[in-house]
Amino acid sequence: MKYIFFSFFVLRLFASDEFITKDEYAKMLYHNPRGIGCHKCHGEDGKGLELGRYKDGNTTVIIKAPNIKNLPFKRFKEAIEAPRHKLMPQYFLTDKEIKTLYYYLKKEDAK
Ligand code: HEC
Repeated sequence: MKYIFFSFFVLRLFASDEFITKDEYAKMLYHNPRGIGCHKCHGEDGKGLELGRYKDGNTTVIIKAPNIKNLPFKRFKEAIEAPRHKLMPQYFLTDKEIKTLYYYLKKEDAK
């Protein structure tokens, strides 16, 4: 009986990939885009986060990741594919993956 249960569990594990919904996939990709998750800097909702601050003489410099929710798709895609950023790491994502991330951020908008 134990073994039957176990093989059922293993089958479920392998099968789960096929039954993942588009929304689940989009969320997964935003959190794990073959590199550091977008949410770590741009926040769960894509509205951006403060990453740190330091003093430069009398002024405080705030380091932020921008809001990426309301960008036109072209700008979104070009930014992700750009080879050089000041802070953001470089990603190697397919067109489909970039579209999925864009979809994810738009979807979060609707809430
Ligand atoms: C280490 C922090 C960090 C991570 C992780 C990160 N970003 Fe960024 N992102 C930034 C910062 C900071 C900028 C502003 C440009 C710069 O200074 O590098 C930026 C800029 C952008 C821009 C351009 C915004 C604009 O107004 O043109 C987009 C789009 C973007 N990020 C999307 C993403 C996506 C999608 C992911 C995940 C695949 C991601 N970022 C992961 C920090 C990060």
